[in-house]
Amino acid sequence: MVRNLCVMKYPHQVKTLAEYKAAYDKSVKEPEAFWAKVAENFSWKKKWDKVLDWNFSEPKIEWFKGAKLNITENCLDRHLPTDANTPAIIWESNNPKEASITYTYQQLYDKVCQFANVLKNNGVKKGDRVCIYMGMIPELAIATLACARIGAIHSVIFGGFSAQAISDRLQDANAEFIVTCDGAFRGAKDIPLKSVIDEALKTCVFVKKVIVYKRTNTSVSMKADRDIWWYDEIKKVEAQGNAACPAEEMDAEDILFILYTSGSTGKPKGVVHTCAGYMVWTNYTFVNVFQYKPGQIHFCTADIGWITGHSYIVYGPLSAGATSLMFEGVPTYPDAGRFWEIVDKFKVNILYTAPTAIRSLMSFGLDLVNNKKLSSLEVLGSVGEPINEEAWHWYHTNIGKEKCPVVDTWWQTETGGILISNLANVTPHKPSFATLPLPGVQPCLVDEQGKVIEGNNVSGNLCIKFPWPGIIRTTYNDHERCRQTYFSTYKNLYFTGDGCLRDEEGNYRITGRVDDVLNVSGHRIGTAELENAINSYTGVIESAIVGYPHDIKGQGIYAYVIYDGDHDHAETRKEIAASVTKMIGAIAKPDKVQFVSGLPKTRSGKIMRRILRKIAEGDTGNLGDTSTLLDPSLVDEIKKGAL
Ligand code: WT7
Repeated sequence: MVRNLCVMKYPHQVKTLAEYKAAYDKSVKEPEAFWAKVAENFSWKKKWDKVLDWNFSEPKIEWFKGAKLNITENCLDRHLPTDANTPAIIWESNNPKEASITYTYQQLYDKVCQFANVLKNNGVKKGDRVCIYMGMIPELAIATLACARIGAIHSVIFGGFSAQAISDRLQDANAEFIVTCDGAFRGAKDIPLKSVIDEALKTCVFVKKVIVYKRTNTSVSMKADRDIWWYDEIKKVEAQGNAACPAEEMDAEDILFILYTSGSTGKPKGVVHTCAGYMVWTNYTFVNVFQYKPGQIHFCTADIGWITGHSYIVYGPLSAGATSLMFEGVPTYPDAGRFWEIVDKFKVNILYTAPTAIRSLMSFGLDLVNNKKLSSLEVLGSVGEPINEEAWHWYHTNIGKEKCPVVDTWWQTETGGILISNLANVTPHKPSFATLPLPGVQPCLVDEQGKVIEGNNVSGNLCIKFPWPGIIRTTYNDHERCRQTYFSTYKNLYFTGDGCLRDEEGNYRITGRVDDVLNVSGHRIGTAELENAINSYTGVIESAIVGYPHDIKGQGIYAYVIYDGDHDHAETRKEIAASVTKMIGAIAKPDKVQFVSGLPKTRSGKIMRRILRKIAEGDTGNLGDTSTLLDPSLVDEIKKGAL
């Protein structure tokens, strides 16, 4: 029965190893025919003139060229004839005593249309940028979809970012509209979102409207003519009696959203995804990687402020008519059994989380696991960073009871959706390996000189040689930066920034970033951005940031700082950390700050990060060649002061 339903609903879902191989083969040999067939499963206002037009040198990438659509019709309207009463979003509060909320597809459709009309009433038009800065409440998904409904470009900013970080993003996108909350509940904390926005807006006078949803009842200041309450605006729409909101006709390559992410240089850049390709890619990867079956409950624990939430809480599941569970809180509140309690409460079938969460929960022991059933689980997923074998086995054994495949999904903000992963119960899992590329994905490994490394049992830098529908199109307002960052390191290849090995069977294992980018608790943080934040603290002359292995976070942040004059080290350390929290957000707070009198540099002035990394890792025995250093004696001093 379920199988038949799947065949009807998801004809593009591969179900056996042979089907995977055939699909992969076809996607490489006849990509346009392959994706044209997949695209038949969506609702289009007008079909495409050409499936794919591309070159990686500019880059120019156009999927489903000439097609017209609205992604929300695919996520909402088209499910109504069959699934009006199917739960679309189930929401679980931070507070386990607060009632959960379910929105069926009909109810979600109504809410999205209603809020889309609020946006319109307030002057938001197609192409305008709307910044969304909210906690994990259903209204965050509603606001996101409402933007897409009217063709406004959403830029969701994670609720943990600081006022300065928001201001940078608002200015980059010239976003004139903001949707936020008075505050957000996260664990025992109450985060004052609106007051962070107020602070950010001191440097963003171009912002015209701030729509505020009341969640925490924290008192907030409301600026006349600019700040308005969500609830009041909904009342106005109700009074107008215009319940529906027609979906704006969008071109396949119109921008759907901007999402900021860090790189090895400069400020975060706005990764741009467009309507048709992103829709097809998130849907295709969702139904294939997790092997979603109608009726299942899918629980992705990410925040919608990150790409994982965009793709696997909102667009992937909803475009498939699935039931997506959204959780407001954190894994350790009120205790470290909360995820497992939620799994039992809603009979979750698919659990998709991050290695850092698994490692953190592992450290609490099994008492809070073994008093739960967890019998509804069928598929487990991992995302955000390499999963170490210990965490993989703990997850597979204690949570999956050895009966659930673990999909280790490798991808990036820039890729829109999963690129390399096993497919649950279709292709085999292998601890700490993302395993095989999805149909449409053509990975290759290259050496330092950019030569492609053929064969198996090899390692190199991971590149992709052909576009897939969900690939980044540009970085907002700065196409050259997109070219430079992703398409210039190796000619005609998309460079991921990750190191990778391919085993004897062709399975891929991602080994981590090869650029100056850290992955802290699954969050991507640029070292240049961190150094800028630290250097802004009065008295800091220079700094260098490196990552070091951290049991829970994956990587910790180690800062070497040259600080001028007398100071109380403990106090200054705290203040430097606080300045990072102020400039970026608490997720980027350094774990260790070591004061040094100088940084190891080559004669040409380049910081030798390799040496700093070794010292931070506590591996000072073999620092390699230090003879090219301007001042080799510095190394001993730094070694002695290591934390
Ligand atoms: C970087 C992308 C993908 C959504 C969350 C993070 C690392 C991601 C895996 C994995 C090993 C992984 C990579 C990648 N990464 N998933 N399964 N195995 N590494 O998105 O912030 O854009 O970061 O996360 O280093 O480049 P992001």
